[in-house]
Amino acid sequence: MNIYLNIFILIVLLSLFSFLSLAPFVPTKNSDLIRLLKIINLKKWEKFLEIGCGTGKVSLFFAKNFPQNEIVWIELSPLFYIISKIKVFFSGLKNIKIVYWNAMKLDFSKFDIFYVFWLPETVTNKLSPKLEREMKDTSRFYSYCFKMSNDKFDEVRHKESSVLNSIYEYKIK
Ligand SMILES: C[S@@+](CC[C@H](N)C(=O)[O-])C[C@H]1O[C@@H](n2cnc3c(N)ncnc32)[C@H](O)[C@@H]1O
Repeated sequence: MNIYLNIFILIVLLSLFSFLSLAPFVPTKNSDLIRLLKIINLKKWEKFLEIGCGTGKVSLFFAKNFPQNEIVWIELSPLFYIISKIKVFFSGLKNIKIVYWNAMKLDFSKFDIFYVFWLPETVTNKLSPKLEREMKDTSRFYSYCFKMSNDKFDEVRHKESSVLNSIYEYKIK
C-alpha cells in the first residue's frame, strides 16, 4: 500500500513542479477550439506540436478534425501526461504521439506548427529564443491569449470583436 501512496505523492509533487515551472494549469476555453481550428488551418503535410498539452483538450480536438496529420503533445506534469494517455487510448485515434518531457529540451526543427498557452514572460523570455533558433522558416507559432515580444518574428493578432481572447500568430521574418 505504501508504495502506491509514495508513487501518488511523487506524481503530485512532480505535477506541482511543472505548474510552477513555466505555466500554471489553465486550459484553453472550449468555445475557442473551433476558432483555433479555423485560424491554424493545418495543411495535410504539417506536423503539429502542442507545447504543454495539459489534459490534451486542444490536441485531441485537432487529432479528431485532422486525422491525416501527425499531432504531437508534450507535457511535463506526470498527472496530465497520464490523463492524456488515457484519453488518447479511449479515443481510438492513431495520429497522436504524447511525450512526457520538458518541452524546452525537445528539438523543434521537426515541427511545422506550434501551439502554446503559457504566460507572456515565459513565452517571450524562454520560448522565443528557442523558436528563433530551431523553428523552420515555413513554420508557424501560435500563442493563446498572450503576445510574444521578439522583433525577429512577424505577428498577426487574431481578435474578432465578439470574443475575449486573442490568438497570436508568428512567422520568422
Ligand atoms: C496553461 S496550461 C495549457 C494547457 C493546454 N495547452 C491548453 O491550452 O488547454 C500549460 C501547461 O504547460 C505545462 N508545462 C509547463 N512547463 C512545461 C514544460 N517545460 N514542458 C512541457 N510542459 C510544460 C503545464 O504542466 C500545463 O499543463
